[in-house]
Amino acid sequence: IRKIAVLTSGGDAPGMNSAIRAVVFSACNLGIEVVGILRGYDGLIDFETAPLSMDDVRNINNRGGTILFTSRSDRFLKKEYREKAALNLRENGIDTLVAIGGDGTLRGAIDFKEEGINVICIPGTIDRDMGCSEYTLGFDTAVNTATEAIDKIRDSSISHGRCSVVEVMGRKKGYIALWSGMAASADAILLPEKWQGDFDSVTDAIKKHHTDGRDCYLVVVAEGVTDAEELAKLIQEKTGIESRVSVLGYIQRGGQPSAKDRMYGSLMGAYAVEILKESRKNRVVAIKNDLLVDYDLEEALSLKNNSLDSFQYQLSLRLSE
Ligand code: F6P
Repeated sequence: IRKIAVLTSGGDAPGMNSAIRAVVFSACNLGIEVVGILRGYDGLIDFETAPLSMDDVRNINNRGGTILFTSRSDRFLKKEYREKAALNLRENGIDTLVAIGGDGTLRGAIDFKEEGINVICIPGTIDRDMGCSEYTLGFDTAVNTATEAIDKIRDSSISHGRCSVVEVMGRKKGYIALWSGMAASADAILLPEKWQGDFDSVTDAIKKHHTDGRDCYLVVVAEGVTDAEELAKLIQEKTGIESRVSVLGYIQRGGQPSAKDRMYGSLMGAYAVEILKESRKNRVVAIKNDLLVDYDLEEALSLKNNSLDSFQYQLSLRLSE
């Protein structure tokens, strides 16, 4: 291999830049040239590129977002555009792509390999919702950001004797909610994996807290559960306690990556180049039992190595009594 391309796709996640940096350093050390593709799969179709030398990536480890920009490409879902993207790469002497992103990126990679391009994926999404990997880049930073924000909301909630409903991201998974909720000692944590629509149990618990003499009540709800505004309205109606909503939103995606995300980004980026060095094709880098492993792209989509940990969940219930 003489030349490879790297892109980031889907939601940006802290740690993506560390992965890009490690890919570039590792590849350059092997004499492989790296081309950066801008704006994810969309940029691959339009062949928007940036050269990526070691000098270009020296000072990006501590930066949030992705220096290569990103997109959720609808065009890439169509074969004609994937063919165009593959032609762009081949015409420029590239037959290998490193794609950093979540499940959508992985699905794109599976389709793209049909065009004869070797794709190596690196899991990057704050949601930690990929079945193939116990860890995805950005999760740790997002959880730290959410925890800090919830701590602050608690201060105001205590001062006013209010109920605060805090909505966190996570798409259909509750890992950000579980971790930030437990870290910030939430009184209730609602997770898509466990939610069965039992609003009464939430309002009853708040009433009980109230009769026990506690005024402040903090509910962390994952975005995949229910509408946070509706939930707060219901809590106020049923309990008589003034309730407010905070949707944390994109602050969870931005900001300086934590040391963990920088480290895992570096490890995963370097590991992706190891796979290339061994001439292995169409693989996903993943973490299993805290070690780097890799899977075939298709196999990766079917894996369930990252289901909600039941001990963690049970503990979250006990700690919010
Ligand atoms: O996948 C990361 C994520 O931030 C999810 O938590 C959220 O549901 C989604 O992306 C939002 O995506 P977008 O910014 O494209 O609307």
